[in-house]
Amino acid sequence: MYLVIKNNADEVGQFAANYIANKINQFNPTQSRPFVLGLPTGSTPLKTYQNLIKFYQNKDLSFENVVTFNMDEYVGLSENDEQSYHYFMQENLFKHIDIKKENTHLLNALAKDLEAECASYEEKIKKIGGIRLFLGGVGEDGHIAFNEPFSSLTSRTRVEALTQSTIHANARFFGGDESKVPTKALTVGVGTIMDADEVLILATGKNKAKAIKQAVEGAISHVWTISALQMHPHTMIVCDQEAASELCEDTVDYFCSRL
Ligand code: GLP
Repeated sequence: MYLVIKNNADEVGQFAANYIANKINQFNPTQSRPFVLGLPTGSTPLKTYQNLIKFYQNKDLSFENVVTFNMDEYVGLSENDEQSYHYFMQENLFKHIDIKKENTHLLNALAKDLEAECASYEEKIKKIGGIRLFLGGVGEDGHIAFNEPFSSLTSRTRVEALTQSTIHANARFFGGDESKVPTKALTVGVGTIMDADEVLILATGKNKAKAIKQAVEGAISHVWTISALQMHPHTMIVCDQEAASELCEDTVDYFCSRL
């Protein structure tokens, strides 16, 4: 695992967007050999998306041959629902770039058979050859995608019940009303994320400090599902100083001296 500590959320967004753009450009994707990118929602990746849009506008990056798979979606929300992750992706990234609609994949949380939908999502990822780079955020309780505490660290795409802590944290997107937050979501599993060639996790703000401490210094445990990434050969966490604020001084010194 590699850890990069930036001064603030703006720098995290710039760093992550640069990193992703370089990866895509170096890969030089074509229609028959697309770059497959895993994507999150939430407030953390917004600055990264804004920077990626700027790269596209400045003609430094094209998404023409990029295929995306989103991490998760709330069960029961339609893609036109402003709180759905479909809507979020459309508004905050897809409509601003040259990505082809057929190249974007999100779980259909209105599917009649949710389990079949999850199995088919895994199949689609497998068929395209896997995810090259999975970008993610982290919940306050250390969840990645919607893999809540005590999710199996080998879990695959499935329906997951949200914890009270996540419902509370995400209520801010639903006018602060917890009763409006769906109680279930479709999510890629920890195992699905672990299968990606590379994982890039972003964390900003003091409310993520505990999760980052557990991710970097804690034991691998299903209590903090992000800690599974310690077993991944190419994981990088990029956080700001607030999110790094609970790390031991020695940990910070170690990673800063490696830069
Ligand atoms: C949700 C999403 C996660 C995201 C987390 C943190 O629970 N399912 O993928 O990482 O929220 O979101 P934020 O970046 O808004 O703090």
